[in-house]
Amino acid sequence: VTDPDLTHHDGRHHPPSRIGILGGTGKLGRGLAQRWATAGIEVVIGSRDADRADTRAAELTADLPATAATLRGGANAEAAAAPLVVAAIPAEGAGELVAGLADTLDGAVLLSAVSPLTFDDRGPQPSTVDSAPSAAELLAARAPGAAVVAGLHTTSSAVLGRLGTTLDEDVLLCGDDEDALATAAAAVDLLGGARAVTVGPLRLAATLEATTAVLISANQRHRTHAGLRLTGLG
Ligand SMILES: NC(=O)c1ccc[n+]([C@@H]2O[C@H](COP(=O)([O-])OP(=O)(O)OC[C@H]3O[C@@H](n4cnc5c(N)ncnc54)[C@H](OP(=O)(O)O)[C@@H]3O)[C@@H](O)[C@H]2O)c1
Repeated sequence: VTDPDLTHHDGRHHPPSRIGILGGTGKLGRGLAQRWATAGIEVVIGSRDADRADTRAAELTADLPATAATLRGGANAEAAAAPLVVAAIPAEGAGELVAGLADTLDGAVLLSAVSPLTFDDRGPQPSTVDSAPSAAELLAARAPGAAVVAGLHTTSSAVLGRLGTTLDEDVLLCGDDEDALATAAAAVDLLGGARAVTVGPLRLAATLEATTAVLISANQRHRTHAGLRLTGLG
């Protein structure tokens, strides 16, 4: 299902020329959009309100070097037309939004950062959405023609948003389509210091999504924005 343009003739993967971000007007979308545009990838930040995305894109562009690629705003449907589409939206409503974009997402790589969480006075805890095994598997069911990869769950929007800061962390990815995983990994590797680590099939998505609760809780206790590293990978 992956766009053949994403695969080199020698089988190596290169990042897509364009990345769309569903809910790109939000906290996570901001740093992702700015870092990818800085790396030379055209970015479309999507919104339920195209005007809001336009305004936001102009604000985000103002912080970027002149050498950055175009960062523009549009409806979520415009973002969904990119070869790599990031779901940076809250879990509640994510299934419905993606179902409405399913035709446009046909053949795309859909990288889900969505982590279903609940919060109480003891902090965050992993949750579920629409009775699905994970948010990523929910999106896969709602957009059957997209190749879903889950990742970015432990990458802090606060750290991403500090553009001068080199990311000192791994981004764990899981999915069932090797081409889609390689495309997502190539994009993650352009975020400025992050290392993409593919961990296995999409059935691990609930475990990755749950790590968001671990990181947020740790960050609250230690008053920081910690990242995650796997050791021993060489
Ligand atoms: N923030 C982080 O550090 C972080 C880190 C890792 C993973 N995540 C995950 O990434 C996702 C996005 O996080 P975030 O902090 O960026 O969230 P956010 O800022 O609260 O929301 C992102 C965008 O989603 C859109 N949105 C809000 N409610 C919606 C709905 N019901 N249906 C469709 N779109 C809706 C909004 O855009 P419009 O109003 O313009 O449509 C909003 O700007 C979440 O699932 C979160 O668990 C976040």
